[in-house]
Amino acid sequence: MRYRGVVKLELSRDLTPEDLEALEKALGEAGLALAKGFRSPEEGGRIVGWERVGRVLRLSVETGRLRIDEASMRVKNSLEVSLGVRRIGIRSVRLEDALVEVEGEVRVEAKLPFVKSIERSGGRTIIHLEDLEERDLKRPFLLRLLRLLSEKEVKAKWGGKAEHWQLIKRSRVKFDPPLFTGDPNKVLEEVGLVKRFSVGQWLYTPLATYLLNAMRDLFLREVVLPLGFREAIFPKMYPLEIGLKTGHLRGTINSMVFCSLPKTYNIEEFEELADYMYVTDEAPPEELAKHLRYPEYFLCYAQCEPFYWFFGSELLDDASLPVKWFDRSGPSFRWESGGIYGLERVIEFHRVEVVWLGKPEQVVRIRDEVLKAYERFMDEVLDLEWRTAWVTPWYYEQSGAVERVEEFDINRPGTIDFELWLPYRGPREEQKAWLEVGNVSIHGTKFTGPFRIRHNRGETLWTGCSGFGTQRWLVAFLAQRGFDPGNWPPALRSYLRENPPPEPVVAITYPKTSAGREELSKLTELLRKV
Ligand code: SER
Ligand code: ZN
Repeated sequence: MRYRGVVKLELSRDLTPEDLEALEKALGEAGLALAKGFRSPEEGGRIVGWERVGRVLRLSVETGRLRIDEASMRVKNSLEVSLGVRRIGIRSVRLEDALVEVEGEVRVEAKLPFVKSIERSGGRTIIHLEDLEERDLKRPFLLRLLRLLSEKEVKAKWGGKAEHWQLIKRSRVKFDPPLFTGDPNKVLEEVGLVKRFSVGQWLYTPLATYLLNAMRDLFLREVVLPLGFREAIFPKMYPLEIGLKTGHLRGTINSMVFCSLPKTYNIEEFEELADYMYVTDEAPPEELAKHLRYPEYFLCYAQCEPFYWFFGSELLDDASLPVKWFDRSGPSFRWESGGIYGLERVIEFHRVEVVWLGKPEQVVRIRDEVLKAYERFMDEVLDLEWRTAWVTPWYYEQSGAVERVEEFDINRPGTIDFELWLPYRGPREEQKAWLEVGNVSIHGTKFTGPFRIRHNRGETLWTGCSGFGTQRWLVAFLAQRGFDPGNWPPALRSYLRENPPPEPVVAITYPKTSAGREELSKLTELLRKV
């Protein structure tokens, strides 16, 4: 990669003949400054020509490993020092007609910030940049632009897909033949335990909530609390800047739910719209939009983001580490368009999100403990058919980053998925018959970096998280063990005995079908006898 461009500098006063001599010397020094730290001016950078018209200096600069924005600032700083002694200041610096020459034909068509045009020929790509002012030169725009280009190139090479899935462990076969082969999503709706509220959203009646809470509480009791995690309550509406730091705004912008505040609190300004809705009994979204601010928030997506925000810019010492929290205070939102199905893939879902922060060895140890407890939960407590896999880390997938999972080293950052077999979807040999119900990850410095979470002695800090998707656990549990509590494992049955179920919803018109009503009374009968 090589760079070329014109560094334009405006001096603070006209030059005298004596100044001109000093200027030539100063330019020599500025040239040396470009090569500083490199083996040669060829490798670093050099001034290949210059001209002066009045107070304006134009230097043609060529650089190799020194980025041209950095080169521009080096030139300015060097001239400021050498000309300063003659009381000549630098009013402004600007980089004009700059270009980056990249080996290979980079195939990116995208419109990119600061890029004027891209030419490809003879195995090279030339990127012409827009002119950059001093404030742009001081920020790492060009660095990020080049990183973006190389990521796009890597992505293009892989056809945009870098999905990785590698089996780690699987449970023994437990249900042969299966205990149940129905689709629990359908049963739950038919017996009226849940009712579709809107696309990808359900209302969970008290009886459904009872079963969901049973799953969640058992998980908390068997896995989370014994490991010493403490409950916190995280916000569920995030300012955009959180998504910039986590990368979500790049990676998952197409599936996030955004929200807007009203433009004003003054209800009188809504009067026309309110009157219109009163008379027509219609709520026109396009009219409403006129009264709203731009979306400045998005709804909870990964659920652990506020944890990184909380420790952002804080300094921690050994005594404050590791930090082990969990949040189960509210839903997450993902708009999955065509993929929405039953309770398995929804827009609004509930999850226990377990998070931790510490030194790398602490984070790995905690992950191992969580993983072990999770396996026991799946294998003994709920006694299900499960498997674990090493997968593309969610924090890469969700931030649009391209880090290929090459080899599998369990002590390095990465994500392990927990999957349960759904007999209704097909034999266990088929990939599509498995549902991801949770995961556990080590993120390395993916979040401690951008959020600037630091240790007082400069030691590296890592984070980890694990998600337990309550609806999915319930669906998968019912898919394997069916709706007869007689077939449910002892731990769950004793939990249900300690916490008797609420009455189901039965009305003249609900559940909708007589088959559904019959099934419901069977289920409630069985639940009472648990
Ligand atoms: N935050 C992780 C995820 O979004 C675990 O829940 O997958
Ligand atoms: Zn998380």
